[in-house]
Amino acid sequence: MRLPRSVLFGAGQRRAIGSVTASLGRRALICTDARLSADPAFRTMLADLAAAGVETHVYDQTQPDLPIESILECVARVSDFAPDVVLGIGGGSCMDLSKVVAVLLAHGGQISDYYGEFKVPGPVLPLVAVPTTAGTGSEVTPVAVVADKERGIKIGIASPHLIPVAAICDPELTTTCPPALTACSGADAMTHAVEAFTTLARPIDAMLTQEHVFVGKNALSDHFARLAVKSIWDSLKPAYDDGSNAAAREELMLGALAAGCAFGTAGTAAAHALQYPVGNLTHTAHGDGVATLLPFVMQFNRPACTPAFAELARIVGLGTPESSEEILSQLFIDGIAALFASVGIPKSLEQLGLAEDQQEFVAENSLLAGRLIKNNPRPLDLDAMRRITRAAFAGDRERLLDGVNLNLQKAD
Ligand SMILES: NC(=O)c1ccc[n+]([C@@H]2O[C@H](COP(=O)([O-])OP(=O)(O)OC[C@H]3O[C@@H](n4cnc5c(N)ncnc54)[C@H](O)[C@@H]3O)[C@@H](O)[C@H]2O)c1
Repeated sequence: MRLPRSVLFGAGQRRAIGSVTASLGRRALICTDARLSADPAFRTMLADLAAAGVETHVYDQTQPDLPIESILECVARVSDFAPDVVLGIGGGSCMDLSKVVAVLLAHGGQISDYYGEFKVPGPVLPLVAVPTTAGTGSEVTPVAVVADKERGIKIGIASPHLIPVAAICDPELTTTCPPALTACSGADAMTHAVEAFTTLARPIDAMLTQEHVFVGKNALSDHFARLAVKSIWDSLKPAYDDGSNAAAREELMLGALAAGCAFGTAGTAAAHALQYPVGNLTHTAHGDGVATLLPFVMQFNRPACTPAFAELARIVGLGTPESSEEILSQLFIDGIAALFASVGIPKSLEQLGLAEDQQEFVAENSLLAGRLIKNNPRPLDLDAMRRITRAAFAGDRERLLDGVNLNLQKAD
């Protein structure tokens, strides 16, 4: 496993921010956005940091999906302050900004120097991550995703050095998420959990963890993925329906955290590879993109994942004790599609805003995400990506049944 040194979880844990940070440094750069910096909860966190003897500099102009210009602006603004610890407080965009800024402050260079795996040469400034969405899991993962408009790509910087030293997960910080954000970020987390549970397991040798940041599924990542799938399954709709439901908010955040722990080790696969070009073309949120794609990717992958999907179906209570693995695996795919539809996730790439003539671009460019392609449980080539893209564009999973007539209950 690759994990933070400390993970604090539960309602009220944000009040630990002062002492956690003071144990790491005295000059804290805080990466957040304009919404949170105007929130009273944020001012309380600043007061707690000051009371713990930590001087702060707040950068509150983080842009969703992290265009590299905004990272450079943050670094330029902070150069005189010379922080010795960096806090990311907000959604995945704020936490990812804190990671990339911590790299640049420690090592200099261009952001593109660090694209890919293992390009960060050594430790970065210590990071403290405080998520305000139940979604990305960035508070525990070794990756930051940036949008490089010049190259027309979203790309990851993946290194164990990017794992925050401490994650402070307080579900009370998510109660302000409107339903659409709850759905998008929660479905993102479910996608992490399902993809982590079904990535390839790699042959183990002494160099596995030295050559791959994401090492494929294993017993420990599976453990987190199961917890994540069950927690998100139970809580996504209740948290979407009633944002003030504290129990659902807590369960959803636990699921998102566990999903981050799972994919931060195992990795993700085809849904994420396809989302990169889809997100670039449609300018839609990462979570909406991966969640729209997930049921189609699962349908394509089903022949390689039948026992895994069947196990997840049992965990969430689908089927009967007599149901075969064939039936259970399809029920789980249908169940995920129905859950996502119930919280307003688009049912097709067309609904998401992709144009018909952009399908080929998506299929071709998805293959550029090599680290995600190599993780997928069923081999992927251009033909496979075309099939998934076309089925997802049309919103028609039956196109991916490979002629198998399962005669199953259909999802909504
Ligand atoms: N590093 C990782 O492991 C990882 C994993 C998945 C996604 N990501 C990245 O994370 C980003 C998406 O993050 P996200 O889904 O958390 O959204 P986000 O950080 O992009 O924020 C989206 C919007 O939600 C608002 N918001 C955040 N918290 C809120 C709250 N509590 N109440 C009301 N509004 C709130 C923000 O102000 C912003 O306007 C993308 O850039 C994606 O690529 C990173």
